[in-house]
Amino acid sequence: MNPLRPAILAAAGSTRMKKAVTRIPVTAGVVRRFVAGETRDELVPVVRELLASGRMISVDFLGEYTTEQAMANAAVAEYVSLIDDLAALGDSLGEVPNVEVSVKLSALGQALGPDGPAIATENLHKLCVKAVESRVWVTVDAEDHTTTDETLETVRQLRHEFPWLAVAVQTYLRAAEDRCRDLTADSARIRLCKGAYQEPENVAYQRNADVDASYLRCLDVLMRGPGYPMVASHDPAMIEAALALSAENRRSPGDFEFQMLYGIRDAEQRHLVDDGHALRVYVPYGGQWYGYLMRRLAERPANLGFFLRALAERG
Ligand code: FDA
Repeated sequence: MNPLRPAILAAAGSTRMKKAVTRIPVTAGVVRRFVAGETRDELVPVVRELLASGRMISVDFLGEYTTEQAMANAAVAEYVSLIDDLAALGDSLGEVPNVEVSVKLSALGQALGPDGPAIATENLHKLCVKAVESRVWVTVDAEDHTTTDETLETVRQLRHEFPWLAVAVQTYLRAAEDRCRDLTADSARIRLCKGAYQEPENVAYQRNADVDASYLRCLDVLMRGPGYPMVASHDPAMIEAALALSAENRRSPGDFEFQMLYGIRDAEQRHLVDDGHALRVYVPYGGQWYGYLMRRLAERPANLGFFLRALAERG
């Protein structure tokens, strides 16, 4: 594990740090590398270019840990407009829409007191209704482990009506393999990622080797199962394993997809598409980019240099 990771992720929760960092304009290289812009107008050309290159997209309107009902309502309204915009830009690869939105339930009100989970479920339901009309898919992001049970419960409830509704599973969680077995069902979509939050040892593996071994076990369950695995990783070892397992299980584009983050391993994204694989890029936009950026910095100390330079230039 990157030794700076706990400190950077701890800083992600600091208001003082957030104030200093968000003085960096979104146009600064270090932010723009990972974030498509602050508005939908800035997002659209990025989406157009990615789609034109044969990649699919999943767009995240940045926001998390909403503490006011009005903010949750505003997030729903933004997602509804976003789905309209994406429907106009998108297309389908057979049964697979090339445009999707990713959403955090904490942005939809999950943390708004005892009624929070019900509020988030109702808000996600609104987005799913809109998404069906527009032939856009929805994936629910995985946040810190204290939210996992509520998030999975919301997804289970809504999957009765929207079986295509996807959820992310983080393989650093010790329960990941069991969750993959529980969640997998005919065409159920599951995004498999290693996990980006700072988690305690009793719930999460701490060593990279253990997280990777868990990823490979989960991948095996998903690739052999009846669902639609979404292999969200930049790690060449995970990608190799997914290629081998997909061949072994006779999966082709339309039966599974790769996913990577906007701004990370662009050349590898293009190679996979050139080789005929389905690949979706997770594209974040919006003014609330601080938490997202800090998680990207924590993953790779090399990114920290660019970031500190941008901060110093800002004074
Ligand atoms: P790993 O961290 O081992 O990185 C492998 C290689 O990828 C590195 O050696 C480097 O080359 C490159 N790389 C990785 N991160 C980089 C970075 N920040 N900057 C530059 N290069 C980098 N997490 C979560 O908790 N909940 C979620 O819902 C999601 N959703 C999600 C969607 C998609 C589409 C992706 C790709 C990832 C997520 N994640 C996530 C994040 C995920 O959990 C994880 O933190 C990162 O993807 C990094 O893990 P890798 O599998 O890439 O491996």
